[in-house]
Amino acid sequence: MCMVKTRGLSKYYTFGSGNQVVALKGVNLTVESGEFVSIMGPSGSGKSTLLNIIGCLDKPTAGDVYIDDVKIDYGNAGNLVQLHRQTMGFVFQGFNLISTMNAIENVWYPMYFNKVPKPERIKRAEELLESVGLRDRTLHLPSELSGGEQQRVSIARALANRPRLILADEPTGNIDSRTGKKIIDLMKKLNKEQGITFIVTTHDKAMANNADRVITITDGEIVD
Ligand SMILES: Nc1ncnc2c1ncn2[C@@H]1O[C@H](COP(=O)(O)OP(=O)(O)OP(=O)(O)O)[C@@H](O)[C@H]1O
Ligand SMILES: [Mg+2]
Repeated sequence: MCMVKTRGLSKYYTFGSGNQVVALKGVNLTVESGEFVSIMGPSGSGKSTLLNIIGCLDKPTAGDVYIDDVKIDYGNAGNLVQLHRQTMGFVFQGFNLISTMNAIENVWYPMYFNKVPKPERIKRAEELLESVGLRDRTLHLPSELSGGEQQRVSIARALANRPRLILADEPTGNIDSRTGKKIIDLMKKLNKEQGITFIVTTHDKAMANNADRVITITDGEIVD
């Protein structure tokens, strides 16, 4: 089955007194279920814009996105919330953990919105932190964790509601290459063992080398 499909996807940003930036120009992208796809391209080429639109964090100016062959209705908040809670997880370059919550709270927080009973969400959050190698860091605040550890917490958080799709925007962008390798290995393992589909934007050659497919985007267009 087709996990993600975009058709004629365009995004224009208007800023200042009516100036326009064309961030995406008619992007047609198809990602099959179980694929690990990397998106590369120069700074400003539209990678984050594409990922944010697929991840329902932003909406297109024109064109459509299909998840599991169903068109996303960007005007329907309920549809977007449902996709976030049931289908996809997002990993950010800057981790975006909640600074006042410790590691385990950050991980069970998305399950709270899915009305998972407390004992169950604590148990799953513990298992997830264990699976990313952070069993002994559950009570640490983000400020008490290294960058690589924070990124592993954010991957555990993205996995909380058992998504079939993970979107990651430069997940190794803010960590050293050795720690980055661990993050890549972890994502590859989740892809291989659990069949989770990954779409990852990156400048990191090691990430691209580990992908099933690399897509290059320049000036808002896929070039190969
Ligand atoms: N909110 C916004 N308003 C105006 N222009 C924007 C906005 N967000 C992004 N842009 C512009 O859209 C283009 C694409 O930005 P995007 O963030 O998608 O690039 P990117 O490929 O992710 O770059 P990087 O590798 O630096 O993260 C850029 O020219 C950027 O300046
Ligand atoms: Mg970006």
